[in-house]
Order: sequence, then structure tokens, then C-alpha cells
Amino acid sequence: MSKTTGKLEDIVSLCKRRGFIFPGSDVYGGMAGTWDFGPLGVMLKRNIMNAWWRFWVDSRDDMYGVDAAIIMNPKTWEASGHVATFADPLVECKECHGRFRADKLVNGATESITTEEFLKVNPKCPTCGKQAWSEIRKFNMMFQTHVGPVSDDTSIAYLRPETAQGIFTNYKNVVDTIYPNLPFGLAQQGKAFRNEISPRDFILRDRECSQMEIEYFVRPDEWEKEFDKMLREQHYFLEQVIGLPAGMIHDLDVPAEDRAHYSKRTVDMMFDYPNGEEELMGLAYRTDFDLSNIQRASGKSMEYRDKVTGESFIPHVIEPSIGVERLFLAVLSAAYVEEEDRVVLKLPENLAPYKFCVSPLLKNKPELVAKAKEVYQILKDKYIFVTWDDSGNIGKRYKKQDEIGTPKCVVIDFDSLEDDTVTVRDRDTTEQVRVKAGEL
Ligand code: GAP
Repeated sequence: MSKTTGKLEDIVSLCKRRGFIFPGSDVYGGMAGTWDFGPLGVMLKRNIMNAWWRFWVDSRDDMYGVDAAIIMNPKTWEASGHVATFADPLVECKECHGRFRADKLVNGATESITTEEFLKVNPKCPTCGKQAWSEIRKFNMMFQTHVGPVSDDTSIAYLRPETAQGIFTNYKNVVDTIYPNLPFGLAQQGKAFRNEISPRDFILRDRECSQMEIEYFVRPDEWEKEFDKMLREQHYFLEQVIGLPAGMIHDLDVPAEDRAHYSKRTVDMMFDYPNGEEELMGLAYRTDFDLSNIQRASGKSMEYRDKVTGESFIPHVIEPSIGVERLFLAVLSAAYVEEEDRVVLKLPENLAPYKFCVSPLLKNKPELVAKAKEVYQILKDKYIFVTWDDSGNIGKRYKKQDEIGTPKCVVIDFDSLEDDTVTVRDRDTTEQVRVKAGEL
């Protein structure tokens, strides 16, 4: 199995040092489970999200996008089962009153762990080391808010814990307006909120994250075929489009007792993160659970009418769901390499924030700067994502560009003024070649 070469703290440190990710509300001492993306982080995040959208929506004829409101009618979360069941096992240390997710304190435990199973292992409290535990109770992870000026039971609303419901609630609108043929998918990217008991591992488990989800509507008797096809396509996306090494991704067929309440089959795609194997994304067969519940709760038909045969039925759903932050961390983990004299992010070119860095060899020689500006502008017009760096010496500039994953550095020197050639240095091999500026 291939392994990442960086420890999580090295990646966290690089992210802060180079402006990828900062702790949320850093200036006030932070806000647990929240993170802010800086200039470089926004670029990488957008490249990841755009690659996903291009692959799953723009380049296909059977996928369409939606962008639903984050705050939805609270009936959504009653019908979806989240009010009743979207809960994690919470246990409290009676000595120090630390609160923890019970399943994370017991090796190999799942979210359905009982108090008896927990006490049989009786782990030490990670904070105070004592073994004095409360009963496990279920803690609902949805953030509550109130809509409008009156804060009482009638105004309760939730921040969405998954983007999926914004898709399901628009299913009928889409069917009635663009008449798609089955199978077809609706895709959405957006924020999701979970009041995690123990946010951890940098951006792996957050209280505010971004999800990229597809609800793929299929004929009920075709779900297995479509599920297997979607699983293969997900691997293709992660490995060929995002460039994650296949050896770092492992499929886990989730046993019935650990699946979400809506799922009849789930395959979690696990990734070798620096702190060990963790879920990167999930692929779930949600049956007709959501559309049937919406039909019951709203009184509106969710049936699909086949244009050829005339039959009507509620479609079944295959759902690939991935968190942007988890994919971001997987990309960084796979790209982070420490070499003898440098740290380098070997990001795939399509994801790298900048494709080129252009510099004059010396910044106090106006003729070099002018020529370098000319080359910079040509590249900028062509590739957009080009950066300029004339700070420090060339060695320092290379070091910085290696750390932010810029594939090519272009340097303009005195020969450039004579023969219009420039030096191009490759990030991964550090090899330098001379090429005509016009051939870049
Ligand atoms: N609609 C299905 C759904 O939300 P999930 O397994 O709860 O299923 C899907 O979440 C994906 O969203 C996960 O595989 C993970 O990538 C991401 N995710 C979930 N909770 C997260 C959190 N607290 N922080 C970061 N990412 C999270």
C-alpha cells in the first residue's frame, strides 16, 4: 500500500504558512470545527469543485445542476428522518465533564455502540485519564435556528446537514420543467452543517463543510447495475480526474447495522490519510425512501411517468456523496512530499492554484523586469492562473513555488534579452530547460 509522506501536522503547518487554510475566526482564538480558506486554498478548492462539476454535470447528457436554499422548511427534516435519527452516540466523563463520541473511544466500534459494549472496554478519558462514564445518549447533530423575529417552537428551522434534501425536494420541479429521461441525475454543491461532538483531524471532520452530491434516479429494477456502474465511475473520477493514487483508496461495503437509516447498500470509499484510513466519500442506494416520504408528507405525487410505456412509478436513487474538505485533504496528502532540501506539493496540473510562476532573474534590472512582464502577460492571457514573483533570490522563489505546487517556473535572464529564450524549471524533477518564449 502506498502511504503519504507527510504527517498531518506538517500539512496543517504548510496550509497556514502558505495561505491555504487558517483556523476559523483565528483572530479571536478560533471556533472549533470551522476553517477558513485563504487565497491559495480558495484556488485549489475551486479547481477541485470545478473538476467535479465539469466531469459529473457539464460533460454528461444525463446530469443537471440545482442550487437550493440552505434553510429549508423544517418538514424536510422530519420527512427525511433526520429529526428522529441523525444522531451520534455521546458519552460524558463524570470526572472532568468532557464529552466524546463513544464510538471514537473504542477500537473498531461503530455509531450503534451501546452503553454495555462501551463499559465492557471502559476506555480512559482522553482528557483526565479517569474511567467514570455516563450512559451513552443519542445527540442530534443538526444545528437549530429560528426563522423570523420570534424564537419559539413554531419558528424552529435547521441548517441543512446534507445537500441531498435540496435535490429531492426539487425532483418534481425538474421533472415537470425539463422532462429528463431515466436514468438521470441531479447534482448540487454547497455548504452542510453538522454539530459534530468531536471535530478532528484538521478539515476531515468539521462542523461546517461543503458537500458535492448527486441523486441519480433510476428504474427500481436497475439499481444494482447503476450502483456498480457509478462505483466504477467514482473510481475513475478520483484516480484519473483528481489524480489520487488507486492504492490509497479502499472500498468498504458497509454492513447493514452501520448504514444510514435510508440506505439498503452503502460502499464507503476510504482513503489513506496521514492519520490512518478514513472515509473519503460514500455511495449509497437510497431506494425510494426520500421521494416516498416527501410524497407522504407533502401530499404531492413524486411518480415518474414513462413517456414510452406510460407506466408510473417512484424512481429509486443511487447517491454518491463527497465532502470537498475531505477530497481537498486527500489531494494534499497524496501530493505532499518531503525531499532532502525541500517540501513539494506534487499537485496534478489541473488542480494546482498556479500553472506558471514568472520571474526576472534580478529585480533591480529594469530591462529584465520589462521582458519578464511581457512573458508574464502572454502566459496570463493564455492560462489565467499565472503568478509573478520577484522577491528574494531564485532559490527562495523555487522553494515557495514548490510548496504551493506550481508546476513550472519561468525565469528571464540576460540571454533572454538576446535570443528570446527563457529558463523553464520543472517542479517535480527540478530539471531546467531553455525554450523560446513564444513556445511556452
Ligand atoms: N447525503 C448523504 C450524506 O450526507 P454522509 O456519509 O453523512 O452522507 C457524505 O456524508 C460525505 O460528506 C462524507 O463521505 C464526507 O466526505 C462528507 N462529510 C460528512 N460529514 C462531514 C464532516 N463533519 N466534515 C467534513 N466532511 C464531512
